[in-house]
Amino acid sequence: MKTLACLMLCCGLMSWPLCGQPRYKDASLPVEERVEDLLECMTLEEKILQLNQYTLGASDNANNIEEVTARIPAGIGSLIYYEENPELRNGMQRRAMEQTRLGIPILFGYDVIHGFRTVYPISLAQACSWNTDLVREACDMAAAEARRSGVDWTFSPMIDVARDGRWGRISEGYGEDPYTNAAFCTASVEGYQGSDLSSSTQVAACLKHYVGYGASEAGRDYVYTEISRQTLWDTYLPPYEAGVRAGAATVMSSFNDISGTPATCNAYTLSKVLKGQWGFGGLVVSDWAAVPQLIPQGAAADRKEAARLAVNAGLDMDMVGHCYDNYLDSLVREGAVSEERIDDAVRRVLTLKFRLGLFERPYTGEVPADQRLLLPQNRELAERLAEESIVLLKNEGGLLPLQGQRTIAVLGPIVDAPGELLGSWSGHGRGEEVCPVRDALTEEFGGTSQVLFHAGCPFDGDDRSGFASALETAREADVVVLFMGERRGWSGENGSRSCIELPEIQEEFIVEMQKAGKPMVLVLSSGRPLALQRVEPLCDAIVEMWQPGVPGGRPVAGVLSGRVNPSGKLSVTFPRTTGQIPVYYNRRQSSRPRQGLYQDIPSTPLYEFGHGLSYTSFEYGDLKLSRESVTGGETLTAEISVTNTGERDGAETVHWFISDPACRITRPLRELKHFEKQVIPAGETRVFRFGIDPARDLSFVDSDGNRFLEPGDYYIMVKDRKVRLQVY
Ligand code: BGC
Repeated sequence: MKTLACLMLCCGLMSWPLCGQPRYKDASLPVEERVEDLLECMTLEEKILQLNQYTLGASDNANNIEEVTARIPAGIGSLIYYEENPELRNGMQRRAMEQTRLGIPILFGYDVIHGFRTVYPISLAQACSWNTDLVREACDMAAAEARRSGVDWTFSPMIDVARDGRWGRISEGYGEDPYTNAAFCTASVEGYQGSDLSSSTQVAACLKHYVGYGASEAGRDYVYTEISRQTLWDTYLPPYEAGVRAGAATVMSSFNDISGTPATCNAYTLSKVLKGQWGFGGLVVSDWAAVPQLIPQGAAADRKEAARLAVNAGLDMDMVGHCYDNYLDSLVREGAVSEERIDDAVRRVLTLKFRLGLFERPYTGEVPADQRLLLPQNRELAERLAEESIVLLKNEGGLLPLQGQRTIAVLGPIVDAPGELLGSWSGHGRGEEVCPVRDALTEEFGGTSQVLFHAGCPFDGDDRSGFASALETAREADVVVLFMGERRGWSGENGSRSCIELPEIQEEFIVEMQKAGKPMVLVLSSGRPLALQRVEPLCDAIVEMWQPGVPGGRPVAGVLSGRVNPSGKLSVTFPRTTGQIPVYYNRRQSSRPRQGLYQDIPSTPLYEFGHGLSYTSFEYGDLKLSRESVTGGETLTAEISVTNTGERDGAETVHWFISDPACRITRPLRELKHFEKQVIPAGETRVFRFGIDPARDLSFVDSDGNRFLEPGDYYIMVKDRKVRLQVY
């Protein structure tokens, strides 16, 4: 029933100051009540405006630069906010609050992907830390920087399982494994949102890109994806289900066409699964202009049809597509879209605005930038995360850490390219705020060794003019450290590569430097796994530093000197060659496991998922189960002890896998179900445990998402240890 105040407002009988407080403005009422009250006050036109997102400020997304910011109606639902300071937002918000009939605040969103101004490592690297606590803290820090700068909503985390390193967006997710993506998704949602979305230091999270975007054919971006229902449920949906359980406020649909039905208008994934089976009560936004992109995708004949398909499938908000604002009104009047559906979508938008406290505090405090951004503790947190993300891939003869070398030659294109270390989606991060490799190594080794720097080689192209002098520098040194890899624009959105080897010129440079006959360390900075088959044999040690953000060269300098004991392990498989893709640990078994192998390369990857070395050594004890057989309803504990048998303290991550060798729907050879990282002081032993709940850890879903647990034999595995567990 309409409240009297609202009725009068709608009929224009009563102006706001005279009517007293409408119920939706009463902060003491429950959100649901306020939403319903406001909804009843709204005209169709006002409702439809809430379902649109435009932009405000200067876009830094090169892919979207052509889009022109339209004249913004004050009653708009949401804006992508490109500024770093809140002033412009507040000005726009003032229009919404003061110049519209109902005073509904605008929701400001932005891509805070791995930091706002304090940029920390890319997500693929974060996952290699296996430290969900640290990732939660980093997201919490990014949330505070963002919210205090005028952003209420981040388009993060990206939880697209990705198994093709050619796809540039592999850098934005947590790797190839569903469980890993789910675990880091939960941590980041908790970090962004905290326990109270209305806090002035938290933002709403957005699970993206829903769903299956990572299956892009041949790693090309925006393209078709062929995904069976079984694979959808096994591989691509689990991180989203975890994110919904963690309370993520929003979801972004993806660009890809899922086996004939684009995600933007996919009623199965949006309505049946997300909103139906999982009971998601939040808001679903499209990806950038994805609604009109239903036309080139072949799903809609025109923009009106695109709007109809998307909204009826369950997509609530149109990101800059201008289909909802132009056509929903006539679609409703023609009966092609129901008013109930519009109300449902608006309800979701309003609920978020109330939860964020925007009705009570629509404006952002205008605090000077140096009091909210890049604070020393933020930098320090980014550095710790970067240290834990670094993966020591190879360390022949214990070359690392470097100790006692009189002269170190530091070569390669990364040496003087701090901006590249930010990675893609670097928010408001600035290249000049990244610690350059040159400065970091000078500081790290300056007192003990002479460090000679020489880029010597470009990222790509064919300028070999620096090769000869670089070789001379290498000859003068006791050890050569090569900083090679990718520019930041080579990964991320629209950043696919057809070959994930290092560019030819970089490979040649490595071959050339080998002529100096010195021990060689290869340090890689990349936004994807690289195929290193040709260069791996030439290097004594290999370190993957990823794209660490503002800490730049400092964390890896610490690893090279031994100040930091590396503890990262791969969240994604490194293939030998590009042709080996897709190669990932949780594949299904072949019918002839010993046959069908490649003739030209070993069929195993170069570096497996979970691979990563340390400067100390760990010895694993026996894997024990608290009981060897259980019913489906009982639980048990698996445990394994790990001893640090080396001479320095180190952190070890134990990955717990399960396998079900015979199942009515075949299962992967191994599936990660739990991981834990612990610091183990030299000489000490720690016990790692996995509390197994068969209903959760040994059950699987069928192609409709129905969970089942079969009686039979399962295996619990850690490294090469494997024990049988019987479920009866
Ligand atoms: C990307 C999204 C991003 C959006 C807004 C799109 O092009 O795919 O990940 O959140 O733009 O910037």
